[in-house]
Amino acid sequence: MAFVSSGYNPDKPMENRISDIGPRDFNEFLPPVIKNNYGKWLYHEILEPGVLVHVAESGDEVYTVRCGTARLMSITLIREMCEVADKHCDGYLRFTTRNNVEFMTDSKDKMIALKDDLLSRKFDGGSYKFPVGGTGAGISNIVHTQGWVHCHTPATDASGTVKVIMDDLFDEFTGHNMPAPVRIAVACCLNMCGACHCSDIAVVGIHRKPPIIDHEYLDNLCEIPLAVASCPTGAVRPSKVEIDGKQFKTVAIKEERCMFCGNCYTMCPSLPLSDKEGDGIALMVGGKVSNRISMPKFSKVVVAFIPNEPPRWPTLTKTIRNIVEVYKADANKYERLGDWAERIGWERFFEKTGIEFTPHLIDDFRDPAYYTWRQSTQFKF
Ligand code: HEM
Ligand code: HEM
Ligand code: SF4
Ligand code: SF4
Repeated sequence: MAFVSSGYNPDKPMENRISDIGPRDFNEFLPPVIKNNYGKWLYHEILEPGVLVHVAESGDEVYTVRCGTARLMSITLIREMCEVADKHCDGYLRFTTRNNVEFMTDSKDKMIALKDDLLSRKFDGGSYKFPVGGTGAGISNIVHTQGWVHCHTPATDASGTVKVIMDDLFDEFTGHNMPAPVRIAVACCLNMCGACHCSDIAVVGIHRKPPIIDHEYLDNLCEIPLAVASCPTGAVRPSKVEIDGKQFKTVAIKEERCMFCGNCYTMCPSLPLSDKEGDGIALMVGGKVSNRISMPKFSKVVVAFIPNEPPRWPTLTKTIRNIVEVYKADANKYERLGDWAERIGWERFFEKTGIEFTPHLIDDFRDPAYYTWRQSTQFKF
């Protein structure tokens, strides 16, 4: 045993190990009723939009009220959430991956008092601080990425687009008025931290222009071999340029090979590719993670480009509203957006929504992507 000489004891592998690095163990934060009934739940029901009850084998009940939040919040709002949790929920609350906050109580009466309190809290402008909803056959809050606020490669904003889309879909958030759950995701570049590829409606930021090269700074800011190695298509190579009689070590980019992924910029800040005209949004639809009725599926591109129109992105919200309305009117009960499009056929999807089919959209509309995608990260030409 290699480590025995350094004091490792194979009989007690955890001895003297520091194991409390990283996030704290979630078990420390579970409400007592969850802890007591861990893994022993009988069933759950949605009592009304935004309100769930979970019933345990022991007969214990947990009533949950789900509220939408923004992913980036002020400290004052978070303090107010804690205040609500202290008042009604013995100090416990939880956040979901879709940026909802959930308050839990152990009786129906407490839940009603909690919900009334939440709905009574409004911002000065009159909007709800804690809109209740996001469950069942409605539109839940959007899972999204970081956008212009704090990522370096976004082709669109995340918080801004999410705000305008959810403003428009508020009735679908607070109601159960859709055929089935509709999950929306926003990712502000193709890195797709937001899991767009398996959402009913996905908003993806795309760049359409190759990086600009800051020759004078590049060698001071970046490791040239790293910038070269970062490119999945092999478009970046080392190069030299002369500016005002001075030689600079830099890179050259074969633009016809560039797919605007931004990997090189991640490695080398002297290769920015954000561009007002080039950057914008593609829309994908029909993905899902659930395997109910049909297999999980990837979403497919249906709109190749929508320009960035901050602060309210009118074309984006109008396009999404249209898809939501056509789906709502045409799909069968329980049919997810992708199931509906596959049943009527993708041609009919484009006819019914009036979305123009362009050559950009020709992809793998027949085969599951698994069979058709190249499996390696290095493309060969
Ligand atoms: C180097 C890799 C990554 C970095 C630096 C990164 C960074 C971040 C940051 C800074 C946030 C924001 C957290 C906040 O605002 O509180 C975030 C959120 C998120 N990331 Fe990543 N991430 C990375 C990789 C991933 C991967 C691989 C996934 C999924 C497979 C992922 C999924 C998400 C999701 C879903 C959120 C939203 C979570 C939420 O707000 O509820 N990220 N990430
Ligand atoms: C070729 C690339 C990728 C493939 C084939 C892929 C495949 C999948 C599949 C099949 C699922 C569904 C898993 C399930 O059924 O439970 C999934 C979920 C997910 N993926 Fe990816 N993925 C890819 C890239 C990424 C990237 C780049 C990210 C983020 C950086 C990402 C983030 C996620 C997240 C957060 C989920 C969970 C979604 C949810 O629970 O709603 N994926 N992915
Ligand atoms: S999707 Fe791209 S731009 Fe957006 S946060 Fe993730 S890596 Fe950054
Ligand atoms: S944007 Fe992507 S494809 Fe284009 S040069 Fe950079 S790494 Fe290569």
